[in-house]
Amino acid sequence: MMERWSPDSWRSKPIVQVPTYADAAALADVEKQIAGFPPLVFAGEARKLKKQLAQVCAGEAFLLQGGDCAESFAEHSADNIRDFFRVFLQMAVVMTFGAAMPVVKVGRIAGQFAKPRSAPTESIDAVELPSYRGDIVNDIAFTPEAREPDPRRQLMSYRQSAATLNLLRAFATGGYANLENAHRWMLGFIKDSPQSERYEKLANQITETLGFMRAIGLDPEHHQELRQTEIYTSHEALLLGYEQALTRVDSTSGDHYATSGHFLWVGDRTRQPDHAHIEYMRGIKNPIGLKCGPTTTPDGLLRLIDILNPANEPGRLTLIARFGAEKVGEHLPSLIRAVTREGRKVVWSCDPMHGNTVKAGAYKTRPFDRVMQEIRSFFDVHRAEGSYAGGVHLEMTGANVTECTGGARALSEADLRSRYMTYCDPRLNAEQAIEVAFLIAEKLKKDRAASHAEADAAE
Ligand code: PEP
Ligand code: CO
Repeated sequence: MMERWSPDSWRSKPIVQVPTYADAAALADVEKQIAGFPPLVFAGEARKLKKQLAQVCAGEAFLLQGGDCAESFAEHSADNIRDFFRVFLQMAVVMTFGAAMPVVKVGRIAGQFAKPRSAPTESIDAVELPSYRGDIVNDIAFTPEAREPDPRRQLMSYRQSAATLNLLRAFATGGYANLENAHRWMLGFIKDSPQSERYEKLANQITETLGFMRAIGLDPEHHQELRQTEIYTSHEALLLGYEQALTRVDSTSGDHYATSGHFLWVGDRTRQPDHAHIEYMRGIKNPIGLKCGPTTTPDGLLRLIDILNPANEPGRLTLIARFGAEKVGEHLPSLIRAVTREGRKVVWSCDPMHGNTVKAGAYKTRPFDRVMQEIRSFFDVHRAEGSYAGGVHLEMTGANVTECTGGARALSEADLRSRYMTYCDPRLNAEQAIEVAFLIAEKLKKDRAASHAEADAAE
């Protein structure tokens, strides 16, 4: 029998990866203020996303989730948000058109501020300071003052999330996402790249198709699907005091929803079944994600699924596999078999980033070919197991950064220093992100052709 859940029932459980605030009264005051602020998203929107994820669960759509590893206060600008949105739209269009399948777009954005760390402290030249835990907690500068957790940063995170979300909603519905603009989404700095050529070809096909549709009376003026899109927000639910302050009762259903974002996930370091993070997640009705890594066992996973999705509701739970290119073939099949055997309805998504981080001198990087390899293996394992590879979860940006080595421009380790801007993990740049989208479109198309061929053969 499960104990009663409430938005604060996590407080009586063990917890890891959270800061210790020196001033408890200041923290309580901030949480009280946030509890009085308007919700950032509505329960109805989260329900709509859950329905779309149920479609993914049924193999009828694909989930594209991506954005910064960590959003920052310093990089908050209209240009950055627009450039991310443009690349995301391009990726979605490549996948939708290539695979003839709806793509559910979920940004790691408008709330992705809190970071789990592998060590509580960081040392540079014999100076040891608390680790940076994301802009919602402390500052990245390497000084004792900057690294002191400051609760007022939560107010800033809330306001920045609201501003980001406001712009995303405007971009999504205000004409920018009109498919007739597909040519214009290409960012200037990738205009001369191989990905840009590929994309240009696809945009031409879209223009032709739209011309045909217009001729038969289906035009963007009368069909909002052609001129508008939907983008949802997501982040890791790590800083539970902040999440609790934004947890609200939905007046329509009487259920509790996290209103800090549409979709929240639990990280690989905070998924202990009897700890605070899983306790919080089980009670909110949003669609949620669970990272699965090399230490996830089939039995451990089934236990977590029992806690997080006891009603076996499709679309509620997305399992985000992050094993690393070399390990996915070893770990994923047994998890899929357990889930399939027990008839659990989940979305399987591939995070090809977090298992492929390597050190290159002073930088953390991710070789692009390993990222691509993990995605290929993820699809191959699902094909072999007869399950559906339903999504991808990426750390990416619209900015022209040099953080992951490889890709069409063959970025080398020596190139990393030129534009290494991330606040945490290395992200795919726009060009690399589009290359991933083309790979997935191809994989989806092939799998689909193969299953049609099997169906035909069975008739
Ligand atoms: C992340 O998604 O940024 C992250 C920290 O991932 P994980 O919990 O899988 O390590
Ligand atoms: Co990360």
